[in-house]
Amino acid sequence: MFITFEGVEGCGKSTIAKLIYNKLKENNFQVMLTREPGGVKIAEDIRKIILNKENVTLDDRSEALLFAASRRQHLVEKVWPALKRGEIVLCDRYIDSSLAYQGGGKHLGVEEILKVNLFATENTFPDLTLLFDIDPKLGLERISANKDREINRLDLESLSFYNTVRNTFLDLAKKYPERYYIIDASKSIDEVFNETYLVITNKLTNGNI
Ligand code: TYD
Repeated sequence: MFITFEGVEGCGKSTIAKLIYNKLKENNFQVMLTREPGGVKIAEDIRKIILNKENVTLDDRSEALLFAASRRQHLVEKVWPALKRGEIVLCDRYIDSSLAYQGGGKHLGVEEILKVNLFATENTFPDLTLLFDIDPKLGLERISANKDREINRLDLESLSFYNTVRNTFLDLAKKYPERYYIIDASKSIDEVFNETYLVITNKLTNGNI
């Protein structure tokens, strides 16, 4: 079972992913938690190039290709082997982030970015994509309140960029209803966690979202 966590900055998906990972482990599930871009050495190296604030001349298409390259390396080295072993893979961001950020936010086109990513992933789609939906204004406020979080190159975009990213995620949820579940991420951590855990255990037990 391949489960991805998606949403704009400050939606809380990474916090929830860790809590879900711990709870599934506690309940004796074989589970792995990983993230994009990164997750393995080569992909983490690519991540540094993409997120480095000094790389102001990084071209948008180059950026999209780097995300796709890092995604493939992560699949090859980590995700596919874990899925083969029968583990549950929880992944913080995946293909839909590229569709929403590069396809939507950067206006490269969702269909164009999809093509690149179908090549990169050999059509590997998640079984379940959890979209932690939040008004980007609230998400960005949460981030600025969290002093521990380092600001990266993609944190420097405008509010209208993140609004486009959010709307593209919502469009993707309509396009792929069989794998998407939208969670209202403006609620408390406890509420968001409980709903997320319920959706995942339902999917694990009877295959339904
Ligand atoms: P990260 O610090 O991991 O942010 P977050 O905690 O919000 O996940 O940085 C990842 C950034 O990269 C984030 O701004 C989203 C962006 N991104 C894309 O633009 N395209 C992609 O395909 C992926 C995986 C991430």
